[in-house]
This record gives sequence, C-alpha cells and structure tokens, in this order.
Amino acid sequence: MTSGNIGIFDSGFGGLTILDGIRQRMPEYDYIYLGDNARAPYGTRSFDVVYEFTLQAVKKLFEMDCPLVILGCNTASAKALRSIQQKYLPKYAPDRRVLGVIRPTAEVVGTISRTKHIGVLATEGTIKSESYKLEIEKLHPDCTIVGQACPMWVPLVENNEFDKPGADYFVKDSLQKLLNQDPLIDTIILGCTHYPLLLPKIKQQLAQLSTVNCQLSTVNCQLSTPQIIPQGQYIASSLEDYLRRHPEMDERLTRGGTCQYLTTESASKFRECASLFLHEEVNAQHITLS
Ligand code: DGL
Repeated sequence: MTSGNIGIFDSGFGGLTILDGIRQRMPEYDYIYLGDNARAPYGTRSFDVVYEFTLQAVKKLFEMDCPLVILGCNTASAKALRSIQQKYLPKYAPDRRVLGVIRPTAEVVGTISRTKHIGVLATEGTIKSESYKLEIEKLHPDCTIVGQACPMWVPLVENNEFDKPGADYFVKDSLQKLLNQDPLIDTIILGCTHYPLLLPKIKQQLAQLSTVNCQLSTVNCQLSTPQIIPQGQYIASSLEDYLRRHPEMDERLTRGGTCQYLTTESASKFRECASLFLHEEVNAQHITLS
C-alpha cells in the first residue's frame, strides 16, 4: 500500500461537517471524502438500499487505499454500519475498519445532559431505526430519549435554501414537535450531518420556543434553552482516541495533510456547494458507484 488515507463517506454534503471537525483536530493525515450526491438523500430510503449504496461507497474508498473509513452520515451509520462490520468486513476485508457517528455521539451526550432528557433530530431513517435511543439507553440507562424526524431539513441544505426565510417555518415546526414530546429536554443532538448548517436558525427558533414554553409552563420555568450537540467535534475526539488505542491502524495512515473530494454528481456542482460547508474552494472528481 503506497498511501493510507482516512475515507469519509456521506450521502451528500453533510459529512463535510464531520470532515471539517476531524481535519481541524488532525490536519496532518490524508483524507478522501466521498459524497454520493447523485443519489442523496438517503433519509427515506429502505435499509436494503442504504446498505447497498453505502457498501459500494466503502468498497470504492478501500480501492483508493483507505484502510479506515468513517461513515460521516447518521443514516448510513444507522442502517448499514452493523451489517458492514459484522458481515462484510470479516469475510472480504478483515484488515480494514469502518466506523460510524452514532456511538461516539451517544457516548458523550449522556454525560452532558443535566435533566437526562435528550432530544434527537434526524432523518426519518435514523429516527425509525431507533439507533440513538438504543445506543444511549445502553450507555446511559438513566436517560430518556425522544426523536423527531425533520424530513425537510436535508432538502433545504442540499438545495442551498438553509439560510433563506422560507427555512424558518420548517425549523420551527420540527423543534416544536420535538419539545412537545418532552418539555424537559435540555440537550438536543443534531443527528444528521447536514443540520449544522441550519444552526443559526435552530438556535434562534429554539430561544423563541423556550421563552414561549416557559411563559406557558406552570411547572418548571428554571429550564434554560436546550443546548445543541453538533457532532463534528465529538467524532474528531473519538477518532483521535480510536487511533491512540489502535496504533497498528495509526501506523498505516500517511501524513501528507492532503484531502481529495469525490462525488457521484458533477464535479462543478459539488465544488459550488462544498464551499458553503467548508468556506474554502475545493476541487472534486466525478466517480460512479456500482
Ligand atoms: N447526512 C445524512 C445523515 O447524517 C443524511 C442525509 C440524507 O441523505 O438524507 O443522516
């Protein structure tokens, strides 16, 4: 193997928020980002289809000398990771590793919440899989978890509408539905890697909703606005910890500080939108997955 890249995969642009978090912490490694933009969103697709598409992407990253691949996509982590780890890798790629984003997030969230009431905002697929609920309950049995699917949020981001006034309605609607399920929530996981782009609107709407809820509440007005957990920084520290615990993998990774971008959509379209996530110009290469 001439190079050892860290591969990062997402259905589209969302995983760039994970890549960004990881590169800020570990800029010295070499990375390859793969976005399956032509087939995004994955959020409403079936388990079988998400597995098939994710496996195709993982195989491509393996071909491109990535001994380690991070599924920087909650939907793929929820629907495909387990099968890849338990069925595919042992048989076809025993020396490679594929990691997801749900467990590292679940590990930290239970230690952050004070009320132990946690809300998860994610795609329909991630919420229906109940992966966050199961993972957090296993690690932090004292926590209560409720989830809310936000079907319009990924299209808002993928179509560059996330900072337009039209997005306010959909952001408020999903937040209201989440808080209605459990007003004691003090910590909210953005369980989809696209959502950090909506953060300014989420914070603004949340502050307004919390004020209204507090005025209406007869029970507990001590609650402050729930805090938001963006995943990038937690995935980065979890990866750093993983590499510390697995020196045999760390030794296989090269340190040239490079980053390549692959997309199943047109390279120019990717370049245009990626700059919204990374605030820098990137060059992308078109690839096909099968
Ligand atoms: N960014 C992906 C996630 O974290 C999903 C977006 C989609 O393809 O629906 O869940």
